[in-house]
Amino acid sequence: MDITSYKPIGKLNNKHLLTLKDYTKEEIYEILLLAEKVKKEYKNGIKNNALAGKTLAMIFSKNSTRTRLSFEMGMLQLGGYPMFLNANDMQLGRNEPISDTAKIISRMGIDGIMIRTYDQNDLELLAEHGSIPVINGLTDLYHPCQILADLLTVYERFGRLKGLKLTYIGDGNNMAHSYMIACAKLGMDVNIVCPSEYSPLSSIVEYSKSQGSVTVTENLDKGVTGADVLCTDVFFSMGQAKDPKKEALLMPYQINDAVMKKTGKPETIFLHCLPAHRGEEVTASVIDGPQSFVFDEAENRLHAQKAVLLLLLAT
Ligand code: CP
Ligand code: NVA
Repeated sequence: MDITSYKPIGKLNNKHLLTLKDYTKEEIYEILLLAEKVKKEYKNGIKNNALAGKTLAMIFSKNSTRTRLSFEMGMLQLGGYPMFLNANDMQLGRNEPISDTAKIISRMGIDGIMIRTYDQNDLELLAEHGSIPVINGLTDLYHPCQILADLLTVYERFGRLKGLKLTYIGDGNNMAHSYMIACAKLGMDVNIVCPSEYSPLSSIVEYSKSQGSVTVTENLDKGVTGADVLCTDVFFSMGQAKDPKKEALLMPYQINDAVMKKTGKPETIFLHCLPAHRGEEVTASVIDGPQSFVFDEAENRLHAQKAVLLLLLAT
């Protein structure tokens, strides 16, 4: 079943959004269809105060532009209160256990936690020791909120998801992991093109293959031909030191005009979670060109996350 024939039921089985591994295809559709609806209402000036009186604690251990802006504005637009917390200013920055932090936050009348951090285990601990929903705003392993925004962007462009070919080229990182998991579940044909040294984690590849069609290859032509969506991400994620060897191995996988042409489809779209490094993983001609939808993608963080917040916090 594609998203086009799914009938929303207005709820999720999950209490948290830690990884899309925990989500069914139907739950992902649920979020995307609500995102489409809240986006339309917002554009038409229709007010939604469903989160009036609710507070989201937003903990950041890493830099952010989009994640902070979209969660902060998402909460405000839904009548709620976003509480920005820099992890280094908290006692977390002085090694207070995450389990104690979870208990404290849960006792302050806060309704949900969004956290951007390094270790996925820290998220799991927050969820285990706290009593309120926890949302992953990026870890070293996953970036589920970004993938939801990307899927919304793809759905807007193509009017469907199932059967589309999505090819991620570059470092086998948190973005690659989340694309594999989510897109495989939705019946998309997922291709990860990367040098073998920087392949995604094999456990996540195996899991994703159990969910649908996933190919990991070093062969650019094979991965790119027929792709409806081409996407990439930085060579060096936050927390990783620049490494000339890695850069040299990834440079042949840069998305440039020639790679875009290789899809054989003029309607192929380019996506990048941003921030981007023009001249490294993508050329300026592609990211600033007519096939690029990176700013729709960035805006869709707002709408996709408003749907997540409504589904996890409104009740
Ligand atoms: N794509 C993304 O998560 O952007 P930020 O790092 O700016 O939040
Ligand atoms: N892979 C990147 C994504 C940033 C949004 C990182 O983890 O830094």
